[in-house]
Amino acid sequence: MKKGVSFLVTVALMALASSLASASDPSPLQDTCVAIDEPKDAVFVNGKFCKDPKLTMAEDFFSSGLDKPGNTSNQVRSNVTTVNVDKIKGLNTLGISMVRIDYEPYGQNPPHTHPRATEILTVLEGTLYVGFVTSNTENRLISKVLNKGDVFVFPIGLIHFQFNIGKTNAVAIAALSSQNPGVITIANAVFGSDPPINPDVLTRAFQLDKSVVKYLQSRF
Ligand SMILES: *[C@@H]1O[C@H](CO)[C@@H](O)[C@H](O)[C@H]1NC(C)=O
Ligand SMILES: *[C@@H]1O[C@H](CO)[C@@H](O)[C@H](O)[C@H]1NC(C)=O
Repeated sequence: MKKGVSFLVTVALMALASSLASASDPSPLQDTCVAIDEPKDAVFVNGKFCKDPKLTMAEDFFSSGLDKPGNTSNQVRSNVTTVNVDKIKGLNTLGISMVRIDYEPYGQNPPHTHPRATEILTVLEGTLYVGFVTSNTENRLISKVLNKGDVFVFPIGLIHFQFNIGKTNAVAIAALSSQNPGVITIANAVFGSDPPINPDVLTRAFQLDKSVVKYLQSRF
């Protein structure tokens, strides 16, 4: 009897220890979430507040219009139409979202990273040269040319891009493993931050002439 009890206690302690060892905080669902003591000054939790389940309806899980191309008349000649938790409120806490990307010939989705999501992309129309770069131990480029029906994965956090190398428009659909993947377009973040990063930092970091840095900062 005594032996049985101590066995149970041991099992319980082991279970507790292993649950403590694997416990972790939830992943962030937006860029920042500064703790606050006074609730009246708070605007959101990590993610969004939940609606009373009694009030949920089909519209909370629905969005339309992804058949329509985005307007690609911009510097990079592409357009990303995002379907995230801001568009479908029912995505809150579900860890998934979707985008449609349109590219003109030679249009590109420039090098960028999603701080909170892995992306899996499929080409509906056209030909894309895509790739991602591994982190600093190697900085290896993993790239491929994709045609209609092909699927490619961009691992979470890694810098990646797509470039339409075909002679026609291209269209892709991608799913991302966050309700709010976030996007950091490298050139915009580095050269177009507000306020600007001190040009001396970028001159050394990018091994450029300071005038080139100032020119780039004027462009973003
Ligand atoms: C993408 O397309 C939408 C819809 O046509 C447009 O409102 C938006 O300004 C476009 N975004 C860019 C960056 O061109
Ligand atoms: C696309 O965007 C450009 C630049 O903002 C604008 O001039 C043009 O009218 C837009 N095209 C459509 C179809 O909305």
